[in-house]
Amino acid sequence: MGYAEDLQELKTQAESLIAQVADSEQLEQFRIRFLGAKGALKEAMTRLREVPRDQKPAMGKLANEIKNAVQALYDQAAATAGASAAATAPATDVTLPGDRPVIGRPHILTQTINEVTEVFARMGFDVAYGPEVEDEWHNFIALNIPASHPARDPLENFYITPEMLLRSQTSTIQTRVMTAGGPPVRVIAVGRVYRPDTVDATHGFMFHQVEGLYVDRGVTMADLKTCLDQFCKAYFGPDVQTRFRPSFFPFTEPSAEVDLLFHRDDGSTEWIEMGGCGMVDPNVLEAVEYDSEEYTGFAFGLGIERMAMRKHHIPDIRLLYANDVRFLKQF
Ligand code: DAH
Repeated sequence: MGYAEDLQELKTQAESLIAQVADSEQLEQFRIRFLGAKGALKEAMTRLREVPRDQKPAMGKLANEIKNAVQALYDQAAATAGASAAATAPATDVTLPGDRPVIGRPHILTQTINEVTEVFARMGFDVAYGPEVEDEWHNFIALNIPASHPARDPLENFYITPEMLLRSQTSTIQTRVMTAGGPPVRVIAVGRVYRPDTVDATHGFMFHQVEGLYVDRGVTMADLKTCLDQFCKAYFGPDVQTRFRPSFFPFTEPSAEVDLLFHRDDGSTEWIEMGGCGMVDPNVLEAVEYDSEEYTGFAFGLGIERMAMRKHHIPDIRLLYANDVRFLKQF
């Protein structure tokens, strides 16, 4: 028989055999017989050498066509077999152990805010909120911060318009709460504040503060010291000590900075500044039309990041904003 007839015969055989293939084993047999390294088509290709020179191009083309046709028969059968195998397999293997879903958790800063809020709530403080975009009156003027004060420098703040800025302190909430009602008032306010500081291990251009304000008849500096001392012991543990250092803030008189004494693992101790506080300046009370002869109050502002970093031994503030789950899932 001639070369062309042999090829056609091969194709006919392949067509009838593929129709009889019933399982993957038989399909593999088919592949080896026709398409394998020593298969019928390989052999046909080898025999192409014996074809007379003038017929070679035509015979080569035919051999290729037949090879492709057989390959297509095989591919189609393999695809159908794969699909039917998938269709007959059970949809779910109920004996496999389940996948444990990854459970999220509140961010460490959110946890800190919740904890702080809870401690102050136990001391009778309500929670107040204020806008992050503030006007100069709430951020400075009502807080007795004169236009000449360095804190009002445009380069120290994120001004949006000449009169509006991203609040630089949560003290803005003091005037917001007092203009809304009272006295008496006893509130804390937690939120973001913004300052164009250079970012490093202890500074960011945004951070969180907790502001406290208590105004009533007969509120004294002793109340302020007790309140902050109790708060620090509740949050950090009973063995921390507080220290009040005389300081100055335009909205309090007298003013103080509150430091905390921490005991390091090696036995040494270290004072860490936690924030500012003081007795509300009569000018602030008068700005919101409270009678400063009758009412007195105290206020404080503490850094949330600083508290969280101290309590949880976090060495760099930037870790708090990097959203690296390896860091976040430790808390
Ligand atoms: N607002 C001050 C700051 O951002 C902190 C502060 C100091 C708040 C004294 C107060 C206060 O309420 O009485 O640095």
